[in-house]
Amino acid sequence: MKKLFIFNLVLILSILSYAQDTSVDVVEHSEENSKCFFCHGSPTYSYYNDVMERTVTKRMNPYFLIDSVLYYDQNHKSFDCIDCHSYEFKEFPHGNTLRMEPMPQCLDCHEGDDATASYNFEKINDEFLESVHSAKHSEEFTCWMCHNPHSYKINARNNINVKETIIYDNNICLSCHADINKYQLISSNTKPNVINKHDWLPNQLEHFAHVRCIECHAHTSNDVMVAHQIQTKDMAVKKCVKCHSSNSMLMSSLYKFQAQENRKKYGFFNSEILSESYMIGANRNLYLNILSAVIFGGILLIILIHAILRIILK
Ligand code: HEC
Ligand code: HEC
Ligand code: HEC
Ligand code: HEC
Ligand code: HEC
Ligand code: HEC
Ligand code: HEC
Repeated sequence: MKKLFIFNLVLILSILSYAQDTSVDVVEHSEENSKCFFCHGSPTYSYYNDVMERTVTKRMNPYFLIDSVLYYDQNHKSFDCIDCHSYEFKEFPHGNTLRMEPMPQCLDCHEGDDATASYNFEKINDEFLESVHSAKHSEEFTCWMCHNPHSYKINARNNINVKETIIYDNNICLSCHADINKYQLISSNTKPNVINKHDWLPNQLEHFAHVRCIECHAHTSNDVMVAHQIQTKDMAVKKCVKCHSSNSMLMSSLYKFQAQENRKKYGFFNSEILSESYMIGANRNLYLNILSAVIFGGILLIILIHAILRIILK
């Protein structure tokens, strides 16, 4: 009986603490936001139509749908929708001129911001302005084109699973380069087929799962963790040895964060980092090295003995 009581007590306590946990999960602003999600979080929405004098249900524009799970799992999860959007959006129907409001840009908030100084936003901005995207399309191509305002979450810096980071980052590029509808927000030209354009690369899908687009397409510098200066196609990396060699360029891009951490911990070990994914040419195995030294030494010895025997026999 007593045991049962204790068991129940534990159960109730854990349910209580769980309930508390979830209430914390539903971040501070969620009540405000839930009014927006009421419409922007579901494929259909309803409102009272004053003219018809009844409630009507309509379909939501799929491009205006926002995933609340992704929203509350991103960098700006503590934000109210109206921190970035006009508070007038609280009214429905939304005012006609609201759609023309200029949106805040990353630098408006992050320039000179101490809390995010380590990201070096200013330098990222400089690199971006020199990128082929910005140079060719100036104002229309903003940081938001790659950083979805409602779901972007940093990966390269804090996700220890490199493969996940690769997929995450490549999907950013493919959100446009594999989607004509988004591409045409920027350009009315026909979109080149990314798969065909990389036919020269063997095991293309294997490569796209193991390296990021920016490895071959962006100019790397020491000032930022993730290179933002996308170059024209004639500057792209095509030489296999750039990666498939012991001083692989991947150490200063894809594995930059791991390399820095490892250098802090153990000094610098190429194989230490690449051991997770064995890469032709980039890994050197200590035992294989010893084995080949032993074989080489053995052959020398045999030649020596052979020569001595021949001299003696003559
Ligand atoms: C009753 C449903 C409803 C509610 C509540 C609602 N919206 Fe909307 N929203 C819509 C519809 C429908 C559209 C598309 C038509 C339009 O622009 O009016 C839209 C469009 C938008 C747009 C895109 C405007 C454009 O054309 O670029 C933004 C931004 C937006 N809403 C933000 C918000 C925010 C922020 C909130 C909460 C404060 C909110 N909405 C609450 C239904 C709603
Ligand atoms: C960190 C700033 C920020 C926050 C917070 C934010 N938005 Fe946005 N939102 C933007 C930007 C920037 C755009 C324009 C995107 C673009 O130009 O590509 C946008 C676009 C939209 C659109 C139009 C979709 C489109 O692709 O044009 C809707 C609808 C919208 N936001 C609703 C919301 C709702 C609802 C919330 C809260 C749950 C919210 N936003 C929170 C920055 C924000
Ligand atoms: C309206 C102001 C505003 C805009 C616009 C804005 N940010 Fe932020 N950002 C913030 C604030 C404030 C925080 C801190 C949020 C918190 O701690 O809850 C933040 C946090 C971040 C973080 C996480 C930092 C960390 O170490 O946790 C990243 C990364 C980030 N922003 C990137 C961006 C990028 C990229 C853009 C543009 C595409 C952008 N932000 C636009 C205000 C903004
Ligand atoms: C062509 C696409 C693209 C554009 C445009 C772009 N970014 Fe990025 N950005 C990325 C990718 C990809 C990442 C890596 C995301 C990850 O894994 O964290 C990234 C990462 C970042 C990070 C996190 C870097 C770190 O050290 O962890 C910041 C901050 C950032 N971008 C800011 C910006 C700002 C500011 C702009 C505009 C001046 C911008 N980005 C424009 C693609 C882009
Ligand atoms: C191994 C290096 C490498 C990787 C990884 C890579 N590319 Fe490329 N890419 C190239 C090279 C080299 C060219 C130039 C090909 C040519 O001119 O024949 C190119 C061309 C392009 C072009 C120009 C097409 C045209 O002709 O207009 C685009 C766009 C492009 N790549 C996007 C991407 C995207 C998106 C990814 C990631 C999914 C990616 N690339 C991954 C090396 C790479
Ligand atoms: C919002 C859409 C969009 C996103 C996201 C995007 N791109 Fe592009 N990209 C374009 C457009 C449009 C062009 C064509 C530019 C032109 O020639 O007018 C282009 C051109 C290119 C080119 C070819 C440049 C040349 O010389 O013709 C490369 C390479 C490229 N992008 C790589 C990338 C990489 C890598 C990423 C991710 C980090 C990325 N893009 C993300 C829209 C996008
Ligand atoms: C941007 C860096 C980079 C470039 C450039 C590059 N590779 Fe790779 N390659 C990789 C990585 C990373 C892997 C994945 C290693 C693994 O499987 O873990 C890989 C894998 C491979 C594989 C093995 C695929 C498999 O099925 O396991 C072959 C073969 C290969 N590359 C050949 C080439 C050739 C040939 C070129 C030049 C035309 C080239 N690579 C250019 C980075 C690169």
